[in-house]
This record gives sequence, C-alpha cells and structure tokens, in this order.
Amino acid sequence: MSATASREPWTRDSWRAKTALQMPTYPDADRLSAVEQKLATYPPLVFAGEARRLRDRLAKVSRGEAFLLQGGDCAESFAEFTGDNIRDNFRVLLQMAVVLTFGARRPVVKVGRMAGQFAKPRSSDVEKKGDVELPSYRGDIINGFDFSEEARVPDPDRMLQAYLQSAATLNLLRAFATGGYADLKRVAQWNLGFAQGSPGSERYEELASRISASIDFIDACGINAQNAPNMREVHYYTSHEALLLPYEQALTRVDSTSGEHVACSGHMIWIGDRTRQPDGAHVEFARGVMNPVGLKCGPSLDPEELIRLIDILNPKNEAGKLTLICRTGAGKVADHLPGWIRAVEREGKKVVWSCDPMHGNTIKASSGYKTRPFNAILQEVEEFFDVHASEGTYAGGVHFEMTGQNVTECLGGMHNLVDTDLSDRYHTACDPRLNASQALELAFLIADALEKSAPAPVAEIAG
Ligand code: PEP
Ligand code: CO
Repeated sequence: MSATASREPWTRDSWRAKTALQMPTYPDADRLSAVEQKLATYPPLVFAGEARRLRDRLAKVSRGEAFLLQGGDCAESFAEFTGDNIRDNFRVLLQMAVVLTFGARRPVVKVGRMAGQFAKPRSSDVEKKGDVELPSYRGDIINGFDFSEEARVPDPDRMLQAYLQSAATLNLLRAFATGGYADLKRVAQWNLGFAQGSPGSERYEELASRISASIDFIDACGINAQNAPNMREVHYYTSHEALLLPYEQALTRVDSTSGEHVACSGHMIWIGDRTRQPDGAHVEFARGVMNPVGLKCGPSLDPEELIRLIDILNPKNEAGKLTLICRTGAGKVADHLPGWIRAVEREGKKVVWSCDPMHGNTIKASSGYKTRPFNAILQEVEEFFDVHASEGTYAGGVHFEMTGQNVTECLGGMHNLVDTDLSDRYHTACDPRLNASQALELAFLIADALEKSAPAPVAEIAG
C-alpha cells in the first residue's frame, strides 16, 4: 500500500525528473549552474540537530502537549532588510507566544516565516498594467518587484543575496533568542503596554494583568531569569516555502551522524497549496529530507489525495514530521476539515493540525488594494477550533502573515482600519499582513478561546 514503493529512489535532484510548477526559467543557464555550485559550497544555515529538535517539539504538538505558533512575513525582501525589522518581527511573535502559552496552558513552539521566506507562488504568470504585460514578480530571490522588463528577468545571483540575508538574519535571531532580549518578564511587560490606552483595549487588560501577575508569582517563588534559562531564553525556529528547488537542492546536505539528508536552508520547510501535486517536483524534493515539513491544505484537496500525500511525505508515520496547514477560508472550514480529519484518523496518521487563516481570506477592497478582514481571520481560527472540538481531535497551531511594523494592509482590529486607511502604509510586496497590534490582538482573542477549551495543566513554563 505504500505510495513510495512505486517511486524511484530519492536523490537531491530526483525532483528534476518531475513537473515543477511555479518555477522560473532562467535565461542564463550557465550562470544558474555556477550559482548552484557556489551555493553548494557555502556553509549550511541550520544543522540537523536543530531540525531534529523541532521535529521532537512538533511531535509533542501532535500529541496535544504543546501548541504551534508559526508566523512572519509573506515575503522577505532585500529592500526591507534591517536589524529593526528583524527585531520587531521577532518581538511580536514572542509577544503572541506568551499570550498563547497562557491561554493554551502548554508550551508554544515558535517558528518564524523568516531567514529564507523569499520565493512566492503566483496565481498568474503575468502582471498587466494598462497595455503593458510583464512576467509576474516571484519574490526577491527570483526577480525584481519594479514593474519593468529588466527587473522581471529571473536572475540566479539573487539566490546568493538571499542566502547571505538569511545568514545575517539567523545570526541576529539566535542572538535575540539567547542573549537576554527574550526575557519572559520583559515580553509580558510589553503586552501590558499593548493592552493599556488603546481604544477598546479594556477587554485585553484583564488577561495581560493575569499573565503579569503569574510571572510575578513565579518570580516571588525564586524562579527568574537569573537562575532559570527558560525564563530568559527561547527556542526559535525558521521556516519558509521550499519553492525554488535549485536553491533548496544546493543547500541540502548529509547529516554526518545519521546519514540523512537535511534541507539546510531553514529548520522547517513547507509545500504551497499550488505545488502539492503528489507526482510533482516539490513533493518529490520534500519527501527525501529529514526536516519537519508543512503541507498547505486548500479547498481543492480531497481526503484520498491527502492520505496519498501523507504516505509519500511521511511513510514511516513519524510524529512531528508532518504539519497540515489548513487554509480554506472563513465559512468554509466545516466543508473540508471534517473530511480531512476523518481520513487521517481512520488511517491512524500522526500529524500536527495547524490553521492558516490568511490565504483563504484575501479580498480586493473597493480601493483596489488586496486585503484581509481581521474578523474573517478570527472567524476561520474559531471554526477550526470548533471542528476539532466536535471531531475530538487537537487543534495544534496557527500560522499567520504578520509584521512588527505599523502597516495598514489588513482591515479591522481595534483601531478599526477601513478601506481608505489602506493606502497610508501599504508596504507589502505580496500578501497583506497583520500589523503588530492586529497580530497581538488576535493572539489575545485566540488565548481566550483556548483558555475556555484547553483542559491540560502547564507542562513547562516556556517552549
Ligand atoms: C504563503 O504561505 O505565502 C502561500 C502562498 O500560501 P498558500 O500556498 O497556502 O497559498
Ligand atoms: Co502569502
């Protein structure tokens, strides 16, 4: 019955014999191959032990013992590459994690869409403005955002720049995670600030104060940043969509201790909703690496195909290997999720169930901006929790596109952004992101829902 039995043996480049959707055609093949060879000699960005540890953490999520928070930019860009941006994105994810830890009564596994999230699948190969039609922008690792013929030519050298940016980003993230910036008391203090003084913030103040009081209590018991590493350090992991396979292949290495192949471009990789064909190149690449893998599950996925994909991607049925990131859109969760859950349960598959409430809720505002309503995002998460509650399964995580910057890209939230506000600070090169305040507000609302439904006691203080 194994779906892999009929497959050819996996190699780093076995994806090349398959159909690869959403991939650029580089006009300069010699330059492409020179870049691939260069990248293959560069140091790995992450190492196998880290990916293995994340897999173990996700195994806990699959058993209901932890909660997954994955989030960050839709697409990182070369232009917005600054220390402040990295710090602010890291900070908002940590703030959300503290709130969710409290609500879920479980450690939160923190995974950024960061240090490698550059390549974008597009719904159209071309972009039209007036009479001019150009190839679509596919992320800074592939071509340029400017609407000019020259910028849109895929350029392999961009892979080298993306690699270097990822390395520098990871360097700073590692420093923040262990160098004192992530001190739990400080992060909880920031949340108090968020909850005070903003319009409609009273509903969050109570929860923020309870979190703060709990930390003060732990402190009074003698557990603090000075004597407990969990109070001052976090494990923070990176992830991205493994879309640009020449780049992924060049960064794939063999782990000398286990002999397994590791995608050393990030700790976790995922397969997008547009490139999850069981016989396609992206699934082929992902099945051979030991990293935890995410699979985006959109409305066109039927339960039989889901099981086929699970058999291919996780043939040994290892807990923590596979995260199903469901993104049906608000109002449609009940149409798809129960079928997927029942198939997974029937077959005894071990998976993490996560909810991406962003990609099924993109609309065009009357101003012309691509946006997402805060309420639809919240609604999809609530529907996701409800379906899991009625199926008796564990809603293990959430996946967001957000930024630490004060952008105006998604509608709603307590500052009630409306259509005419979108033009103020609409900076995304791709999908609309929650701003820092909207992201945190969402975390508070989800924590509320989790607190009501999560029965288990806290197993650890920090994840
Ligand atoms: C994304 O996560 O940025 C994305 C494109 O998602 P999806 O593949 O689910 O559309
Ligand atoms: Co996106």
